[in-house]
Amino acid sequence: MSQEVHPAGSLKQHTIWQDGQMPEPCTVVIFGATGDLTQRKLLPTLAHLLHDHPLPEGFSVVAFARRPMNDEQWRGMALDSINKYMPDNDKLDREAQHDFAQRMYYCQSDFNDREGYEKLADILERLDREKGTQGNRMYYLATPPTLDSEIIFQLGGAGLARPAAGQYGDEESWTRIVIEKPFGRDLASAQKLNREIARVFHERQTYRIDHYMGKETVQNLLAFRFANGIFEPLWNQKYIDHVQIVVAESLGIGSRAEYYEEAGAIRDMVQNHIMQVLCLTTMEAPVAFDADAIRDEKVKVLRAVPLLTPEDVAKRTVRGQYTAGVINGQPQVSYKEEKGVSPASQTETYVALKLFIENWRWAEVPFYIRTGKALPKRSTEVTIQFKRVPHMLYKPAETKGLVPNRLTIRIQPDEGISLKFAAKVPGAARHLNDVDMNFSYSEAFGIESPDAYERLIADCMVGDSTLFIRRDEVETQVQVEVSKR
Ligand SMILES: NC(=O)c1ccc[n+]([C@@H]2O[C@H](COP(=O)([O-])OP(=O)(O)OC[C@H]3O[C@@H](n4cnc5c(N)ncnc54)[C@H](OP(=O)(O)O)[C@@H]3O)[C@@H](O)[C@H]2O)c1
Repeated sequence: MSQEVHPAGSLKQHTIWQDGQMPEPCTVVIFGATGDLTQRKLLPTLAHLLHDHPLPEGFSVVAFARRPMNDEQWRGMALDSINKYMPDNDKLDREAQHDFAQRMYYCQSDFNDREGYEKLADILERLDREKGTQGNRMYYLATPPTLDSEIIFQLGGAGLARPAAGQYGDEESWTRIVIEKPFGRDLASAQKLNREIARVFHERQTYRIDHYMGKETVQNLLAFRFANGIFEPLWNQKYIDHVQIVVAESLGIGSRAEYYEEAGAIRDMVQNHIMQVLCLTTMEAPVAFDADAIRDEKVKVLRAVPLLTPEDVAKRTVRGQYTAGVINGQPQVSYKEEKGVSPASQTETYVALKLFIENWRWAEVPFYIRTGKALPKRSTEVTIQFKRVPHMLYKPAETKGLVPNRLTIRIQPDEGISLKFAAKVPGAARHLNDVDMNFSYSEAFGIESPDAYERLIADCMVGDSTLFIRRDEVETQVQVEVSKR
């Protein structure tokens, strides 16, 4: 396989396999392979993985989708996608494209057609024999959430859900399923989906994905809090005035009206990505860096967020929709004018809410959450606003405009952390100003960050579920949704 040449001055390649361990050979089966997520994210991610990190020889990908196509046509479609969506400095050369395409196979079927799954079983067995994939499979459900149950049921019915014990040497092969967000529409549907999964897959085979957890900067919240001694003693209601979590997107909904009309900003962002960021910002220190210890602590925090009553909803939440305007010099139509959106739509594209976490650490600290589409700037950040000093030595005129200490964790773009503190302006007068102490991810390490999907797909391949969402966690976080209406 050819090696990518990074232009002079560009960032160094990151590592992706923990402890340098390559995963076992496997086949990734993508359901919904002609869809937006697969084309825009999954295929470029797999191509990048394959090209820049050692993957086992026989690694293969089977697309399961309903459009009539053969392997060759699918390979052409997959190459078009990676050429369109991989960044310019990351494009594959001819040889690498050929290698990528040769690992692609197509299984044409509707999701509810039993024969399609029998056909899939045949393809998988053939790949096991010919490519040495050893019965290891990752099923990726890049599908409308309403179809997840049917696919899971059919996989179970076709005997494709359980690992083939001992069939390939002494080692048991593995079978894992990746399920996208949003996970259900509300608590009842999330619980129902969990029950349906559990009938077919064991929890340890189930990887509920939230791509925010794959972001380096989100994972860095744990490192920042628990590998540094100086912040944690201040990380509580005694010193923190309030916390803000903002996820602002500058794009509108694009071509995803069908999905967005059903989801809205709360289901799209709050009950998954923002709840995950909230958990990592506020949880107690886990007893170990492992999947269950971390997820135990996340669940505890989620359980301490009280449901909003109807009065709370009226007092502590705001929902809105974008109107027409100009963003970054480009015209933006209003949400109601977007293709596929009902002119009478009540779906929120913006939400702001105030939450509390009822435990010793966070009692009475407000958490202000805001997210929306078509906003002036794309930015995701967590701001920890510390309290004022108990007694200010300086006169009001000397501290005019000065804000109390503020720590900002920038998740995207311009990933990094900055701490605002007061400093004396040079000169005889005792004037104080805010200054920033700034850490920038890219400048500090000179290493490119792995894409979030790359991180998570790689973790699933090696069977590490630390960054995926556990059953009880998803059922607790989805309750923010329940309390909405
Ligand atoms: N797109 C994103 O940026 C994004 C981000 C995060 C999470 N997600 C989640 O990822 C999942 C997929 O989203 P998406 O945007 O990729 O959806 P999408 O563009 O609507 O793609 C859906 C895929 O499912 C296929 N499909 C639908 N009904 C089918 C059926 N009965 N039988 C066989 N195939 C069928 C479609 O095939 P046809 O092409 O034949 O219609 C298409 O390949 C959703 O759960 C979404 O919430 C998406």
